[in-house]
Amino acid sequence: STAALTDRFGRRVSYLRLSVTDRCDLRCSYCMPKGFSGFEEPENWLRFDEITRVVAAFARMGVARVRLTGGEPLLRRGLPQLVTQLSGLPGLQDISLSTNATQLHKHARVLHDAGVRRINVSLDSLDRACTEKITGRDSFASIMAGLQAGKQAGFDPIKLNMVVMRGINDHEIMRMAQFCFEEGFILRLIEAMPMGETGRNSQYMDIGPVREQLVSKFNLTPAAAELGGGPARYWTTADSKGTIGFISPISQHFCATCNRVRLSVDGTLYMCLGQEEKFELRPLLRAGISDQELEAAIRIAIELKPERHEFKEQPHKIIRFMSQTGG
Ligand code: GTP
Ligand code: 5AD
Ligand code: SF4
Repeated sequence: STAALTDRFGRRVSYLRLSVTDRCDLRCSYCMPKGFSGFEEPENWLRFDEITRVVAAFARMGVARVRLTGGEPLLRRGLPQLVTQLSGLPGLQDISLSTNATQLHKHARVLHDAGVRRINVSLDSLDRACTEKITGRDSFASIMAGLQAGKQAGFDPIKLNMVVMRGINDHEIMRMAQFCFEEGFILRLIEAMPMGETGRNSQYMDIGPVREQLVSKFNLTPAAAELGGGPARYWTTADSKGTIGFISPISQHFCATCNRVRLSVDGTLYMCLGQEEKFELRPLLRAGISDQELEAAIRIAIELKPERHEFKEQPHKIIRFMSQTGG
């Protein structure tokens, strides 16, 4: 392995979010704009050997965690094969998946066997009609089936991602917490970021007050255990059986401790979820660069990483859609 990856602000890059497709079977309002059709052409999708090569380079430079994202990652054909390839890479300690779970019942076991150990599942409501309104499809039953299959396959932990939206699902937070405590899932409450259609409406909600309510209702204290590599701040019950993570990119951003970059399906490295800085690796990969040159290119890319997002300053500026980088 070579020297660690550090950006201009002294932040170590140790976590790669890997988008394996920009397609999705759902149309969540906060993720993809209505009628979106700008999907990437298949010839521009990185092949598994190309992805593995890039991840191997990151792993040599100290990236220990990889998260598979989309769009919906389970729509990428042969995904377990990619996981098997990644599992063999020296240095990688953590391969995880963020999914909408609609197809998880079909893939849970093979993915677990291939080396995915923990999953994060998007679910914003426990009501079928409300879920249909948010996701644009009648998806509730398939998501529930996926969650159960995930549990059976042995993913641990399973985190449930709930984007909290005022007037849409904020009345369900307590119910969702109860559900997660009963099922053994970690609930994560997420502030909507202004991508997709969220920037232009009034659904955004500061989750600070929600946290205060939950802390007092369930007697939560800050969790001692490390529960992932991401931006969530976790609180837990006295018996540690109930845990809630709070992800507050708007009210209390976590950019000072950012540890990640994103690789999109077309081989573009995006330096920040909320900024435009990027670096295209695909042309270099297809021009046959060496491993050393690839590492050098990645280091140049990391130099471009901005200090933080500016969602608050520019709430109406759409940099790109969530579905293109998988959050
Ligand atoms: P682990 O901590 O490893 O379990 O994963 P994670 O929470 O980082 O990943 P997940 O895909 O479940 O993302 C949860 C939420 O956090 C989503 O809304 C993401 O968009 C958001 N998120 C993840 N990383 C970042 C980030 O670097 N910046 C911002 N602003 N949001 C992020
Ligand atoms: N703001 C916050 N979170 C979002 N996600 C998708 N779009 C947004 C947004 N605009 C979340 C989904 C998914 C995770 C990967 O990203 O809930 O669980
Ligand atoms: Fe698909 Fe997930 Fe985006 Fe919804 S949030 S459109 S499920 S990628």
